[in-house]
Amino acid sequence: MSDRINVRNPNEISKLRKAGEVSARILMDLMPIIKPGITTKEIDDYAAELFKREGCGNAFLGYGGYPGQLCISVNEVVVHGIGDNRVIHDGDIVSLDAGAIVDGWYGDNAMTVAVGNVSEEALRLLAVTEEALFRGIEQARQGNPLSEVCGAIEDFVKPFGFGIVRDYVGHGVGRHLHEDPSIPNYRPNYPLPRLKRGMILAIEPMITLGTYRVKVLDDDWTAVTTDGSWAAHFEHTVAVGSHGGDILTDRPRIALPEQLGITL
Ligand code: MF3
Ligand code: CO
Repeated sequence: MSDRINVRNPNEISKLRKAGEVSARILMDLMPIIKPGITTKEIDDYAAELFKREGCGNAFLGYGGYPGQLCISVNEVVVHGIGDNRVIHDGDIVSLDAGAIVDGWYGDNAMTVAVGNVSEEALRLLAVTEEALFRGIEQARQGNPLSEVCGAIEDFVKPFGFGIVRDYVGHGVGRHLHEDPSIPNYRPNYPLPRLKRGMILAIEPMITLGTYRVKVLDDDWTAVTTDGSWAAHFEHTVAVGSHGGDILTDRPRIALPEQLGITL
């Protein structure tokens, strides 16, 4: 099964890093406009300008018929929120997910932004989810079974009592948005392959304040928690290295406890 996981050489990884850098810049450039009063469609329209300015392809638009530039997932929306007339309010949390294509190579990354006065509980959710991603990245080193990445995320999140979404998982990425392997955010009950240097992983914990259960709305995309509890989503594309994942979508962290004025 690990035969099906692509291994990229340093030249290929430098191309993936270009796509990753653009993907990360798009997220960072979106951040200042995520303010009360803007609609998610206006955010998506602004993303269209950013993709144009970068001169890159969009990994999501048209993927399986996906209609948006980005995924914009507010509060109880876990993933795959489509820009529409929903208005962002003070106190909301907004997950932004963006993927760029540069010379046929894909980047994929996501983050959840706090808008104005957000509850301490939701800020903790953000900090825990971002940190969980980094715990997973740390384990993305050669020789480690992939299950160590999954397990590190689960082990970090569990003591907080938050929901770990199971219906959506991380994935390999490279010449396509989704390649092998699947990367659950919990230790699966079946063995996963050992990691090799140069495997490219999109690690993306989706964590909720309540249930892990999600349902997809009638638009066939928008995934919400079944109990309406709020969700956070952080994602990086990383190359498996000798000491951990080499982050190809590198950008500043936005949800360290000290940045949010909380303790975990
Ligand atoms: N990061 C998400 C994923 O890997 C975004 C996909 S949105 C889609 O599944 F529209 F492209 F499906
Ligand atoms: Co992804």
